[in-house]
Amino acid sequence: MKTILTGVKPTGTVHFGNYVGAIRPAIQLGHDINAKGGRHIMFVADYHAINAIKDAPLLKQLTKEIASTYLACGLDPKHSLFYKQSDVPELFELTTILMAYTPKGLMNKSHAYKAQVDKNMAKGEPNDAGINMGLYTYPVLMAADILAYDTDIVPVGKDQIQHVEIAADIAGSINAHYKKEVLKIPEYVVQVNSQVLPGTDGQKMSKSYNNVIPLFADDNVLKKAVMGIKTDCQGLNDKKNPEDILLYHIIKGVAKDDVVQTVKDGLEQGGMGYGDIKKMLLNALHEEIDEKREKYNYYMTHFDEVEDMLQDGAKRARDIAAPVLNRVKDVIFNR
Ligand code: ADP
Ligand code: TRP
Repeated sequence: MKTILTGVKPTGTVHFGNYVGAIRPAIQLGHDINAKGGRHIMFVADYHAINAIKDAPLLKQLTKEIASTYLACGLDPKHSLFYKQSDVPELFELTTILMAYTPKGLMNKSHAYKAQVDKNMAKGEPNDAGINMGLYTYPVLMAADILAYDTDIVPVGKDQIQHVEIAADIAGSINAHYKKEVLKIPEYVVQVNSQVLPGTDGQKMSKSYNNVIPLFADDNVLKKAVMGIKTDCQGLNDKKNPEDILLYHIIKGVAKDDVVQTVKDGLEQGGMGYGDIKKMLLNALHEEIDEKREKYNYYMTHFDEVEDMLQDGAKRARDIAAPVLNRVKDVIFNR
């Protein structure tokens, strides 16, 4: 039985880029794994988030949003383990143990830390300005997240590959030291088929670029975002190459095949206006999201029910993590 684990940080209001690139594939993967009899684990990395977010009401709000989003989009908490990292104390015991086997030099090379150092240097500030130990040791907690459940596979975006490699390195050096398989060595798989959705200005859709189409906004906000998508000034009847048209790339990411084909034909032949395409896009977004948005709004206003699910998930997660932790302690303390 394979165990597949994914963590998600509650760091910003969710947009359609997150949905097509991360949320939808993660939930699909969960269904596939469960159907094959494997174990799917999905958690909210709220301890990782506090490295950056110290505003407690904001962190609570973002945690609520991300948990409600995954449930609304179809994550089934009966079949997938779904919990908040902060509700599984075994992770923090394991983190302390892993620290003792993690060379400091390995942390110096970690992307999350190095990126912040690079930013500081570019601004002429001291290297470690604004860097806390949580950020510096980010990969060790992430290793505990992974190793605590004997995880086989971690699906990741490219930016997270290094972190899984570090988890494998730490587990490997513990196993080598004690000459037995104390911890299972995890592997990453890169989600190759996940697409990058452009934002309203043509750059990658990202909360940092102020170009997002929010996933669960009110109708008028959604409409405003869609109407604001950048268009060029080619004439209505000009024959266009769809690959050059931003609207086409966005609609390709979210709409059904027949709608995409209609837009493609309309652009190639000329005569289909950008306003019409925006309307089709808006309809496609509504079709994809309206039912989910209702569920999302329900979960946001009945969060006690979500909290119960998360607590139940944490209990089941602890039942798996506790024996793993004990196995490690038996070896390192020769119990
Ligand atoms: P943002 O770029 O808005 O800060 P994050 O970095 O928090 O988003 O990304 C969360 C997840 O969503 C990651 O798995 C990331 O790969 C995915 N993601 C973010 N933006 C996009 C996008 N425009 N297209 C596809 N996937 C995306
Ligand atoms: N670092 C991941 C991110 O920024 C989130 C995360 C925390 C994670 N722990 C994890 C992902 C364990 C996979 C496995 O997206």
